[in-house]
Amino acid sequence: MILVTGGAGYVGSHFVMALLEKGEDVIVFDSLELGHMETIETLKQYGNLKFIKGNLKHLDDIRGVFMSNKDITAVAHFAAYSQVAESVKNPQKYYYNNVYGTLNLLNAMLEFNVKKIVFSSTAATYGEPVYTPIDEKHPQNPINPYGMSKLMIEKIMDDYDKAYGLKSVRLRYFNVAGADSSSRIGEWHEPETHLIPNVLKATSEKTFKMFGTDYDTQDGTCVRDYINIEDLAQAHLNALEYLNNGGKTNYFNLGTKDGNSVKEVFSACENIKGCSIPLEICPRRDGDPATLVADNSKAKDVLNWIPKNDLTYSIKTAYEWEKVLSSN
Ligand code: UFG
Repeated sequence: MILVTGGAGYVGSHFVMALLEKGEDVIVFDSLELGHMETIETLKQYGNLKFIKGNLKHLDDIRGVFMSNKDITAVAHFAAYSQVAESVKNPQKYYYNNVYGTLNLLNAMLEFNVKKIVFSSTAATYGEPVYTPIDEKHPQNPINPYGMSKLMIEKIMDDYDKAYGLKSVRLRYFNVAGADSSSRIGEWHEPETHLIPNVLKATSEKTFKMFGTDYDTQDGTCVRDYINIEDLAQAHLNALEYLNNGGKTNYFNLGTKDGNSVKEVFSACENIKGCSIPLEICPRRDGDPATLVADNSKAKDVLNWIPKNDLTYSIKTAYEWEKVLSSN
């Protein structure tokens, strides 16, 4: 039995779908503050899924999960706040939820002798890029509390391995994109801040705002590495297998090694929608580095992970999912 925290959210739910399709038994633990019960109901149709509502900030909530489910063998931990701008305005919320919540989870794991965890980390732990593409040896100097909260957790996991033998795989995501290939689940944030859904959602009343066209890049807009959500879910399956095979604590970038500019993403969305999308050029958004591209060689070599889906496919699936969301 695999415990998935945050399994009602965007990335967590796609991993749960991948687990269920492999025939694994899954428990999702989620507060439903940002995740959706509708997502859980959908997932339940595809396998043996138990849902437990609770909050990692309450130690008893998560202890109770382990106490009544002695067959949990590993944890995948997605539950977190993940908005960079919000973390700058309200660091307390990020450190308390992300760091303290994870401490409660790890402590409950140790108490019940569960010693394998796959953790949702981020490219934001690297901070401003010193070189590109970014490999795992790149210095980690986060420039916002969100990235710092994830880095702190990575450090705590190192110490918990040394002292208690808790094995972790930390997956540092670049820009996650797309939706389930059959549009059963997808990205569902309220409010939405991410590029692709915002371009796809734009209307004449709600124009898409492009933040900054004066960056030092080929067309002046920010370059990002868009990794498909199903490829990302597959990497988590590989990470779990790696730990089950006795793999040591480790960390990997999850990206494609290809960068795409905001303008390229915008044009690709127009092509897929088959119409022009209302656009407004705006000033830069605070804290956006010009270029963030992953060197993904380590995940390929060690986890035998091969990302298969390109940006066009991610946008197509995101668009199909947007139609499902807007029809409900
Ligand atoms: N952008 C726009 N308009 C929008 C939304 C985004 O122009 O409405 C631009 C941004 O300015 C940026 C690019 O599109 O240049 C990508 O922005 P996203 O918000 O989609 O993604 P980020 O690169 O800011 O953030 C992602 C994750 C974070 C993580 C970060 C790591 O969402 O959780 O990568 O650097 F911290």
